[in-house]
Amino acid sequence: MLQSNVMKKATGHEKRSILVVGNWKLNPQTQKSATTLFSHIKKAVASKQAHARVALCPPVVFFGSVQKLSNTGRIALGAQDVFFESQGAFTGQISLSMLKDVGVQYVIVGHSEKRAQGESNETVAKKVATVLKGNITAIVCVGETTRDAHGDYFTVVETQLRAILKETTGAQVGRLVIAYEPVWAIGTGKNATADDIQEMKLFIQKVIADTLGRAAVLKIRILYGGSVTTDNAKEILHEAKVDGFLVGGASLKVVEFKGIVSIADAYGQ
Ligand code: PGA
Repeated sequence: MLQSNVMKKATGHEKRSILVVGNWKLNPQTQKSATTLFSHIKKAVASKQAHARVALCPPVVFFGSVQKLSNTGRIALGAQDVFFESQGAFTGQISLSMLKDVGVQYVIVGHSEKRAQGESNETVAKKVATVLKGNITAIVCVGETTRDAHGDYFTVVETQLRAILKETTGAQVGRLVIAYEPVWAIGTGKNATADDIQEMKLFIQKVIADTLGRAAVLKIRILYGGSVTTDNAKEILHEAKVDGFLVGGASLKVVEFKGIVSIADAYGQ
């Protein structure tokens, strides 16, 4: 393993399509701080070497104020969730067409924090189908809660993944992004190792090949999320060869997020 890692380093970077997504979750607390944070990040990530794609997912109530900022520059607007119905008596829900109307290009679906609130694989699958049919990119989260010694976490991820892939057609695969986010790594400061991420990436690709065929493997980007920082981003991109990151806590810190995006730019094309 060590030898092959050294060889990979010696042969340099493999350029690929890289995506870095910042998930602000329930932050910040005011419209003013959301616009300030968005514009500071926008300035910080402006670069002549902008090879990676970048998206930020603020809370929906701030879309009105940040939409203008996302119209120029490199930051696309993303949503943290969506509802699967398009209209009607569904108090508290937001539809895909509403999100599209305010310029959203990416939607996170099935985040573990939504799953922890009771969101099932079936609901995640319905949401994925809605997003893909609506011509928007779905960033769908999968990941185990704990890592047991018997490898049961592969079964957990496979079940989550099969529910999603059942709803995906060959024509839609380019708009499907899978984010491997082990729940124990989210917000804990403990990221998965590059070897473990690479192993899971290969496993996810095997399930995709089984379900949708080998051609789909090349089109579906696989991100990693869970305590990504400037300290671990390079190793994860380089060794695990993921196609980018879903970043939580670090996306609220301008310098840290800029650092992660610059690392991603070196691998993006
Ligand atoms: P974290 O969150 O980067 O704060 O661990 C990741 C996520 O929840 O997507």
